[in-house]
Amino acid sequence: MLQSREKERILEFFQSNGILVAPDALNRIIENNMGPMIRSLLTSEVLDSGYLSEKQIHSVLVDSNKTRNPYFEVDYSNLKVNSSAEDFRKYFSDRYEKLKKIILLSSHMRGTLPISKAKRTPGKLKVVGMVSETSVTSNGHRKLLIEDLEDSIQVIIMKKNPISSELILPDEVIGIVGSVSSGKGDPVIFADEIVRPDIPNRVVQFEESAPVFVGSISDIHVGSKTFRKDDFRSMIHWLNGGSEESKQLKYLVLSGDVVDGIGVYPSQENDLEILNPMEQYSALAELISGIPEDVKVFIMPGNHDTVRLAEPQPCLPEALRKDLPDNAFLIPNPCTLTLEKRKVLVYHGMSLNDLVELIPGMNYSTIGDAVKELLKRRHLAPRYGGKTPLIPSATDYHVIEEIPDVFITGHVHSHAMGEYKSVRYVNSSTWQSQTDYQRMMNFSPNPSILTLFDLNSLNVVKKDFKPTY
Ligand SMILES: [Fe+2]
Repeated sequence: MLQSREKERILEFFQSNGILVAPDALNRIIENNMGPMIRSLLTSEVLDSGYLSEKQIHSVLVDSNKTRNPYFEVDYSNLKVNSSAEDFRKYFSDRYEKLKKIILLSSHMRGTLPISKAKRTPGKLKVVGMVSETSVTSNGHRKLLIEDLEDSIQVIIMKKNPISSELILPDEVIGIVGSVSSGKGDPVIFADEIVRPDIPNRVVQFEESAPVFVGSISDIHVGSKTFRKDDFRSMIHWLNGGSEESKQLKYLVLSGDVVDGIGVYPSQENDLEILNPMEQYSALAELISGIPEDVKVFIMPGNHDTVRLAEPQPCLPEALRKDLPDNAFLIPNPCTLTLEKRKVLVYHGMSLNDLVELIPGMNYSTIGDAVKELLKRRHLAPRYGGKTPLIPSATDYHVIEEIPDVFITGHVHSHAMGEYKSVRYVNSSTWQSQTDYQRMMNFSPNPSILTLFDLNSLNVVKKDFKPTY
């Protein structure tokens, strides 16, 4: 009787919010007594903005900007989820225009023509286009279809040209230097050179003062049976230990999947030590409370967290802030932080899965190479419509407009750090042991590593908290 009343209450609640619930989902909510939690989350914050009205989303996102956070500026208030064809047009136009502007900074691209004009221009020319198709001809030459805002044209890269082996991703924006040959059919550009937005060569100023570290950790997965809480506690112990390095750590970035969540994959409940996501966040808050008060802790959501899956993801709900100490700051995904005048770009990293699929020979243990491919394309998710759900808003928030000094990603549970044209990067370590899924995929994570970037010298230090037997 009580259950059927609760069922009615939950159904009424979802209906009043314009949400349809599958019978299985409803039963699971009742069985796990999750009704009150869902009501509190939905009434105060976004559980999944995809189901809320534009007005509600607007107010929630405006609220999420009231994060009294002096370290980043982001405005998602014009973002809506129920996208139309016009939204897609605006989204891709914005992506194209922003990346074209960066490509045109290259001296190789002076005198670039619109594609419609290039078609009527014999001889050498330059165009900028978004790649809409890639294929290989029967003779082994590369064939692309590229588009600008008005027109499209085929591009042939002859197999003898060294650039024919270059990785070209669908939806990336590239500059082409080549010549048009119309012959009998449609005009075609024979490419000599590909120009990417890329990170330019630049001189970075280094400060000679004492180090100021930003630490990077990711994918903590609190609530999972495989969360390595002993390693995490020994990191907190080190932070409080008073060593020279730990005293120099002023910022700590948690780049997503801070808890394991629930319902992220089938039968996840079998892998959970804490079933209720609110309790998972409370356990996280308790751990974070052990971090010294003078360390500012930035918490980003990932695909396991309690916000909508589609990117850009807003900050974690304000309702979760109550347990967190005052030195914890909620940040959205992606986000650029300004720390000690350095730009620190943080992205959870869902698009890395797409890159592993698209790049021949790429795997999770060579993920640093995939991170470099994102920087080369100045885009955090170059391929649209793969495994990375993206909201087609009028602004493409995944374009890397500002050159970061430090680029932090996570998500794949590997650990890779390096430098690409003055940008220090890390694919940050997880705090979760190998899961059954990873065992099945024959992937061994590299957990429990804190990566430190000195914001003055940009030197990188790795601290491993796995036990030494
Ligand atoms: Fe993730």
